[in-house]
Amino acid sequence: MTSRIHILDDSLISKIAAGEVIERPSSIVKELVENAVDAQATHIHVDIQQGGRRSITLLDDGFGMTQDEVLLALKRHATSKISTLEDLYNIQTLGFRGEALPSIASVSMMTLMTRAREPSQVTGTRVDIEGGRVLKVGDCASAEGTKIVVENVFFNTPARLKFLKSPETEFSHIDTVVEQMALAHPEIGFQLTHNGKKTLSCPLRQDLRQRIHSLYGALIVDQCLSVTGENQGFKMSGLVGRPSLHHGSARNLFFFVNGRAVKDRTLHHAVLTAYETLLMRGRYPEVFLFLELPTDQVDVNVHPAKLEVRFAQSTHVHRFVVETLKRHLQNQGGISVRMVGDPSAAWGDPRGGTPSVAPSFQQPLLGDERGRTPMTPLKIVGQIHETYLLCELPDKLIFVDQHAAHERIGFEALKRQYEAKKILSQRLLVPEIFELKPSLAEILRYYLEDLRRWGLDIDSYGDHAFAIKAVPLLLEDTRHVELVQDLVESMASYELLQPLEKRWNEVLETMACHRQVRAGDLLSPQEIWALLEEMKKTPRAMTCPHGRPVIVEVMFEEVERWFKRKK
Ligand SMILES: Nc1ncnc2c1ncn2[C@@H]1O[C@H](COP(=O)(O)OP(=O)(O)O)[C@@H](O)[C@H]1O
Ligand SMILES: [Mg+2]
Repeated sequence: MTSRIHILDDSLISKIAAGEVIERPSSIVKELVENAVDAQATHIHVDIQQGGRRSITLLDDGFGMTQDEVLLALKRHATSKISTLEDLYNIQTLGFRGEALPSIASVSMMTLMTRAREPSQVTGTRVDIEGGRVLKVGDCASAEGTKIVVENVFFNTPARLKFLKSPETEFSHIDTVVEQMALAHPEIGFQLTHNGKKTLSCPLRQDLRQRIHSLYGALIVDQCLSVTGENQGFKMSGLVGRPSLHHGSARNLFFFVNGRAVKDRTLHHAVLTAYETLLMRGRYPEVFLFLELPTDQVDVNVHPAKLEVRFAQSTHVHRFVVETLKRHLQNQGGISVRMVGDPSAAWGDPRGGTPSVAPSFQQPLLGDERGRTPMTPLKIVGQIHETYLLCELPDKLIFVDQHAAHERIGFEALKRQYEAKKILSQRLLVPEIFELKPSLAEILRYYLEDLRRWGLDIDSYGDHAFAIKAVPLLLEDTRHVELVQDLVESMASYELLQPLEKRWNEVLETMACHRQVRAGDLLSPQEIWALLEEMKKTPRAMTCPHGRPVIVEVMFEEVERWFKRKK
């Protein structure tokens, strides 16, 4: 009888291992750039064709490899970076598992040319590999350093190939990876090209501020503060945005731990905690944070693609980051929205002895259970704090956040125009020019035609610059550049580059969020009434598109309990 159990052949084992490390073209770029950094390159050039599906080429001027070394490097678990178990807990390099080269080689056609940085090495080595099989090894003319060309990625793993997205989407992942590496190493020069077009270029020997300037332009740098901190061997440095610089998504939070770009929930949470009272809910800061911790305080061997780390003392790290950031962010002003977002905080804890308010957002606001409009008209008591309208109904008080209501009304108005296929547009007297990060610029260019149908007329204006020429009439008074940046950021989060029509709701929400309340712009009783009516019809009407409540109600019974008239 044949055994049910057998050992897999080497080529299959390699492909399984590769699956963990190499998920998509950007994973290849990440591994190759890491190797170049570990090889002490001063300049790294990445060239991409067709989002990496056709080819990924990486050229570095690092210390290269001898012929023997290359052949070893292509074997699994071959590394020059660690040798003992202790080394694993004291990692100074980006790589350490010896898995990347064989993994990449096993799922692509790879050509490797390299010459070691040693006087004895007069020629270089060239190796051609297909699906992990070495086809040819020989001498070649080569500068010091390494050039690796990876073509037809996943040609022999069709299932993986099927999961690849459009070249634009794949490239935007690649761009993110190169951006992160360029941020982590401002001392190294980086260049990235896609289909022959330069999308990122940073000279060597920069400091962080200069690097961010090269990557994102003056607009961002000027709005950032430098931060530093040190506590019991923990060090932090970086640049963080003033509260006036905020985004609709968390994609501008960059974390680096011991030189490695990571995603980390502890750090993410710590940053948001430090900015808590400075930003509106749903808005995120721009942050470039570099932590240096003793190597025994971080485990980097916890994620196949090394995208995450584990802290030995995460509470300590959290506190360190919050405290350091808060110290720098003090006196930076901003908007305090605690009271607006969380009414119970303003009135004390409902479980405590203090008077309480139960903002029953989920329940029908007006009328009885059957949704009938009450016959008694709404009485407007007044405006408080120049922010809230206080209204009275027979059984309850209603607080309306004017700004949120305004947004909601704007949303409904835009929606009506959109549904009638007639978003009214207003030409700007002077076009507004702005710049975007390269990856975002590509995305915006893709959507320019689409956006015209939404009343937003934007022209491409050089590499990463754009000019806003017309905006929807309802958004005339907004900050147009911020609006467009937010729109592009949410587009960047789409898994596929879908037509905007498919995302109309989100587009309208983003637009509506940018409408500003004009000062002293009191809503008329009719408007409030219309708003309340609309809120009954719209599923998410109880909140503004930012997620803040528009209306908070207080039952009179509750008020009577405050005054001990009722139990
Ligand atoms: N660009 C490069 N320049 C010099 N040496 C390299 C380069 N890329 C890889 N190597 C060598 O090949 C080895 C294997 O690389 P890799 O498979 O990525 O594993 P790891 O980086 O974990 O060691 C490295 O340890 C290094 O010695
Ligand atoms: Mg490596």
